[in-house]
Parts: sequence; C-alpha cells; structure tokens
Amino acid sequence: MALGWARAGQEVIIGSRALERAVQAALAINREVGRTAATGMLNREAAAAGEIVVLTVPYDAHEKTLLDIREAVRGKILVDVTVPIDPQNPRRLRIPSDGSATEEAQALLGPETRVVAAFQNISYTHLSQGEAIACDVLTCGGDAQARQEVIRLAGLLGLRGLDAGPARNARVVEGLTVVLMEINRRYKVRGAGIRVTGLPDRDNEK
Ligand SMILES: NC(=O)c1ccc[n+]([C@@H]2O[C@H](COP(=O)([O-])OP(=O)(O)OC[C@H]3O[C@@H](n4cnc5c(N)ncnc54)[C@H](OP(=O)(O)O)[C@@H]3O)[C@@H](O)[C@H]2O)c1
Repeated sequence: MALGWARAGQEVIIGSRALERAVQAALAINREVGRTAATGMLNREAAAAGEIVVLTVPYDAHEKTLLDIREAVRGKILVDVTVPIDPQNPRRLRIPSDGSATEEAQALLGPETRVVAAFQNISYTHLSQGEAIACDVLTCGGDAQARQEVIRLAGLLGLRGLDAGPARNARVVEGLTVVLMEINRRYKVRGAGIRVTGLPDRDNEK
C-alpha cells in the first residue's frame, strides 16, 4: 500500500519496531518510484508524523501496537487492516471480545481517533504489482467522513472503495478474509477478491 500511494504521488512514512527496517523499506520504495517519497521511522514517531495512520500488523501485535501509538494518533484517522486470525490455526478467525479488531481498536483508542476498517480483503500479492485489482475495499467505521477519506485513499491505489457502514460491520469484512484465504487454497490461486455488484453506474466505474 505504501508503494502504491508513493506511486500516486503521496508522501509516506513507514513505521517499524526497528528503525533500520523502516529505513530500508522506505529506501526500497524510493528506488522503485525514483524519488524520495518515503521515510522510515519507529512506529510511534511514524504515527505522530503521519496525517492518516494505517495499521498493518498481525492480530497478535494489534493491542500492543495500538497502545504504543495511542497518543500519537489522537485526533487522526486510523485505518485498521488487521484480520484477527487465530495464530494457533491460521485458517480460523479468533473472534475478538469486542466483535472485531476494528471495534477493539476504537475502544482502545477512544472517540477522538476515528478508526476505519479497510483493505482486509486485498491480497498483498496484487498490491505490489501496480496493476488493476479486481477487489473492492469495504470501509467500516463510526465516522462517515473518515470512511469517505479512506475511500479516497483506496482510489489512489486504483481500488474502488465502498462505504460499508458502521464499525460493527467490520466483523463481516474481517471474517471475509478467512473465506478468501480458503478459496485461495481450494482453487490454488494467491489473491482471490470480492466485488459488489448491483450498484449505480457511478460506483461501478472502476
Ligand atoms: N498480507 C496480506 O495479503 C493481507 C491481506 C489483508 C489483510 N492482512 C492483514 O494485515 C495485517 C498485516 O499483514 P502482513 O501480512 O503485512 O503481516 P506481517 O508481514 O506478518 O507483519 C507486518 C509487520 O508487523 C510487524 N510485526 C510483526 N509481528 C509483530 C509483533 N509481534 N509485534 C509488533 N509488530 C509486529 C512487523 O514489522 P516490524 O518488525 O518492522 O516492526 C511486520 O513487518 C494482518 O493483520 C493481516 O491479517 C494482510
């Protein structure tokens, strides 16, 4: 996603627990796009410096990372890509006590941070290619304007973002990823996706 946004002319900051990894990831993006589009920082600093913060860590690291960046993201949009996969059984969802990782994040960060669930159904195998991706981005969260902002970010990656309503709907969107992973296995593909049909033309353009 960072590479896609850099390709789309945005400035991106990569966060990591290790500065060196963040810097190396940023350099790789800069080499790819041929300009200084990315910088690397430690997670908390990256979260403080970013206008919109995108969280992409395994579910195991979700709470810990959120606690680390909680103050840094106050007042911002946090895009949560986390799928609560059971680390003991990666074919299963571990359903969080709050219903979804997104709702957990919102509860943990408090109302001043607007959490939006998005991108859980997009396989990384597509993102790095820079080609058209046949998968919609369903956005869920408590703030309609924040959902629209994330839909705009999806558009920069060449993806159609759709407003999928309140945070509780993230339970379905997060769970759908496990279904897509199962389809990947059964059909021996790497990046099954989902498209919503039946929308007015304006939303069918992409
Ligand atoms: N990969 C996909 O195609 C895909 C698609 C849809 C949704 N997702 C979801 O997106 C999230 C990230 O997926 P991913 O494939 O990018 O995961 P990943 O490569 O395993 O992890 C992403 C980064 O999280 C950090 N991290 C890993 N373990 C950690 C820990 N124990 N504590 C703190 N930070 C840790 C690491 O960064 P540092 O070591 O640099 O700190 C790592 O590079 C997951 O929740 C996944 O379910 C992934």
